[in-house]
Amino acid sequence: MMRTAVRSLPPEKSTAVLVVLPVFEDKEQFRAATARLQRLAGAVPPQVTSKAFTGKRGQTVLVPSSRRNAQMILGLGMGTVASLTREVLRKTGAAAVSAAIAVKAGTIACVEPGSELEGGGLPAEILTTEEIAQGLAEGAILAAYRFDKYLTRNPDERFVPVEFMLLAASAGRAATLARGAERAGRVCAGVFLARDLANVPGNDLFPDALAREARTLARHPRVTVTVFDERKIAKLGMGGLLGVAQGSARPPRFIIVEYKPRKAPQKPKTVVLVGKGVTFDSGGISIKPSANMGEMKMDMSGAAAVLGTIQVASALNLPVRLVGLIPAAENLPGGRALKPGDILKHLNGMTSEIENTDAEGRLILADALVYAGRFSPDLVIDLATLTGAVVVALGHVTTGMLGTADDAMRRLEEAGRRTYERVWQLPLFEEYERLIKSDVADVRNTGGRWAGAITAALFLKKFTGTYPWVHLDIAGTAIVEEPSEYIQKGGSGVGVRLLVDFLQHWNNQ
Ligand code: BES
Ligand code: MN
Ligand code: ZN
Repeated sequence: MMRTAVRSLPPEKSTAVLVVLPVFEDKEQFRAATARLQRLAGAVPPQVTSKAFTGKRGQTVLVPSSRRNAQMILGLGMGTVASLTREVLRKTGAAAVSAAIAVKAGTIACVEPGSELEGGGLPAEILTTEEIAQGLAEGAILAAYRFDKYLTRNPDERFVPVEFMLLAASAGRAATLARGAERAGRVCAGVFLARDLANVPGNDLFPDALAREARTLARHPRVTVTVFDERKIAKLGMGGLLGVAQGSARPPRFIIVEYKPRKAPQKPKTVVLVGKGVTFDSGGISIKPSANMGEMKMDMSGAAAVLGTIQVASALNLPVRLVGLIPAAENLPGGRALKPGDILKHLNGMTSEIENTDAEGRLILADALVYAGRFSPDLVIDLATLTGAVVVALGHVTTGMLGTADDAMRRLEEAGRRTYERVWQLPLFEEYERLIKSDVADVRNTGGRWAGAITAALFLKKFTGTYPWVHLDIAGTAIVEEPSEYIQKGGSGVGVRLLVDFLQHWNNQ
């Protein structure tokens, strides 16, 4: 992971290969910033003279430094000070990294935005100093992520910068900026864990391998891990998890990861996080078409988000007890595979009729949601790449959210707006329930052509019992086909930043 640093140093003194200067379009700031650009470059860049660069968001100007041969100066348009958001900062950090990659600059020094303002740094009404550093560092670190475990040739093509340094406007601000950058590093480490787990292919990441990865989390402070094997799963009566796994030679696992906060003032709240852990989803007997089937190695992205979130919770000492539950299975069409028409018995004794073996996520989540009740949770949140229907509804931009915990859902929306891992609620109106009625079992695992994200969630709801519950369908947001500023093709690690932000704010309500 790219390292971050904070120094109280004017950019003129920086030895970084790429010096980044955020430029606001507000008149005074623009004038001050371009004066600085001129000092660094030795001349006013022609883009500034021609008004091609006016500080509008997304504009860039790249000029060589007047001082050192190899050094480059990058002006980044920020828009107006008043319109600055965390997302603009993340994109700024990401743009700095992209530019560094383009010119093969190994080190970046980024001037603190608003350094040219009275007092140095931005007014706290806009964003706090810590938030500014966190946003910039997050965008930069995330943009420098590469999944290169399996690339054995041409290290040159995999070039990413090694350091992102923030140049504080004053010595007084440096410590606060450092806290924000530090926090970003811890959060991004969790995102990277989630991305790596999603990106590792199914031949290397099967249920027991996922359990082994989860076990390594026990190295982190106040985290414990328990893994149930197939015998224990059978003994408990998790018929959904067993049923989905039975077509594969790889046995299922049920993974429990618990994080307990250090000495809390009062009894901490308990949040259970349930993550779908289908390490590969072929569809089973109801087999999927072969086009893009490889993406289904990422059908454990919910599990990955749960593990990433718990790692960050430990790193940040979040004051909440977390229990991660991961039903892990491989959905394959083997000789003993689950078949359409089969009926399974879940952990709470309820039966489900299998109409389509490709609707496997809800079958394993049902058992985990029942098991969640054992922890007397204040809240249960499940994350699952559950339906193609949610991708039809919301595309790859927004996570589908359904559930019974209205207050938590409002707060998840807020966390989504801050992190840009945005969620949008869909309804659970009871009129949809008839779609999953079965003639031969308590519930059917498919609901027909329409409202697929809703009928999937209604299936889950039948297993949630009495606790407040939120379901996040991340099928569209966890798997990236088109890369964006700080999210590469492959696993996005979605959910980690959302949940960490949510948990941070939820506890001190
Ligand atoms: N893992 C898939 C959902 C999915 C689709 C995730 C696309 C990511 C991208 C899930 O197990 C599935 O196959 N769902 C079926 C359900 C249907 C058979 C009721 C679907 O959405 O087609
Ligand atoms: Mn499926
Ligand atoms: Zn699936």
